[in-house]
Amino acid sequence: MRRQGRGQGQRQGQGQGQGQGRSASPHGTPHGGKRQVELTVERIGGRGDGLATLDGRPVFVPQTVPGDRVRVRVEGERAGGLAAEVLELIEPGPERVEAPCGLFGRCGGCALQHLDDTSYARLKRGQVATALSRAGLGDVPVGEVLRTAPATRRRATFAAKRAGGRVVLGFNERQSAWIVDVADCLVVAPAILAVLEPLRAVLDAVLADGPPLDVSVTALDGGLDVLVTGGAEPGLAAREAWAAFADAADLGRLSWRAQERSPVEPLAHRRPLAARFGAVAVPVPPGVFLQPSAEGEAALVAAALAALEGCGHVVDLFAGAGTFTFPLALASRVHAVEGDEAAFGALAAAARGVPAVSAQRRDLFRDPLTAAELHRFDGLLFDPPRAGAAAQAAEIAGSRVPVVVGVSCNPGTFARDARTLVDGGYALEAVTPVDQFLWSSHVELVAVFRK
Ligand SMILES: C[S@@+](CC[C@H](N)C(=O)[O-])C[C@H]1O[C@@H](n2cnc3c(N)ncnc32)[C@H](O)[C@@H]1O
Repeated sequence: MRRQGRGQGQRQGQGQGQGQGRSASPHGTPHGGKRQVELTVERIGGRGDGLATLDGRPVFVPQTVPGDRVRVRVEGERAGGLAAEVLELIEPGPERVEAPCGLFGRCGGCALQHLDDTSYARLKRGQVATALSRAGLGDVPVGEVLRTAPATRRRATFAAKRAGGRVVLGFNERQSAWIVDVADCLVVAPAILAVLEPLRAVLDAVLADGPPLDVSVTALDGGLDVLVTGGAEPGLAAREAWAAFADAADLGRLSWRAQERSPVEPLAHRRPLAARFGAVAVPVPPGVFLQPSAEGEAALVAAALAALEGCGHVVDLFAGAGTFTFPLALASRVHAVEGDEAAFGALAAAARGVPAVSAQRRDLFRDPLTAAELHRFDGLLFDPPRAGAAAQAAEIAGSRVPVVVGVSCNPGTFARDARTLVDGGYALEAVTPVDQFLWSSHVELVAVFRK
């Protein structure tokens, strides 16, 4: 969970002025001569906003559902149409329910709590089906959505800032750099929520005025792993305060870095921490990628194992720290390829104890495994970042690997890459959406191709 979509997805800009008065909040903007109209919402769009039509143009109306009759203020242009904010819900649509979280609407973490459960699942499935259809793959069967439960997110990134003399710690507001103070969250695992109060207290002791910090909290085997990004390098007093916090909150590890790509400095390392993938506990460095929930990961891994059953030699592309590699290695030889130095380091170190696994560090955008290199494998899994795997997909398309599993958190780039594979002679057998970004507009999927 990231702090805007820190709730769930991407990060927004860093707020500079929290605590200086907030006349520009989405809820407090003076009407200022902007056009006000009544609209009926027709459907929900890809980013989770309701969609209506005004003068033949699409209007994006956040937190609305089909059938809602709303009075809105048109805020201005937005890519593909107009952006509007609800001033009044005149008549609710039939799919509307009361959002379970009191912060819904303000907090940028969730976009879809106001939709009944059946419509919600249909929407997530529809996102995948629409992306496939846009890529000319509309006849591919899309399975029912595999759901994950609330309170199971095992990693979350909070924003923290000193504002008006006090510390705010939470997620970015929707469409804003303002931070919503969060004490409770229906998405995040209780073990992570339990650390917020002590975290607020230590931040109050060490945090100076300035741009917000990121505080990522991940629940691993062995305890919580907290990584603070941003702010001034901690001096002696701050280091002592952080270490005391780590003891009091019984953290596994606490680290700091100046920026996202800067070296990570340990502030406290109290216990060994690992991510468990199949039979292997992989000691992972701070900040390394993990699937957002253990449940979602289990669903993806089970689907991959089922599709790749019987394969003697599997290549796992964009392998991370070995989420799929080690479970697959229980039955197959696995060659794992990963570009990130830290993830690869963890993967390669753990692979030393597993003879069935070989590991390679390689940039698969610039230097994908070629079709000729892929010929020695009889199974392939690719799980790229949101940008997808365009160059690698072109090579897979030209290969003879008989079974390919695709895992993706972006149906749009997945559909593009799937089209490449289909054009290369693969049949896309089935696609299963996995809802592990609960109540956000994001959806994960796992798919099986055969040649
Ligand atoms: C969505 S994550 C999946 C990781 C892993 N399969 C898992 O489930 O934990 C995508 C992975 O691709 C890696 N990655 C991103 N860009 C890459 C590139 N150009 N070449 C190789 N790996 C890359 C990231 O470091 C990350 O580990």
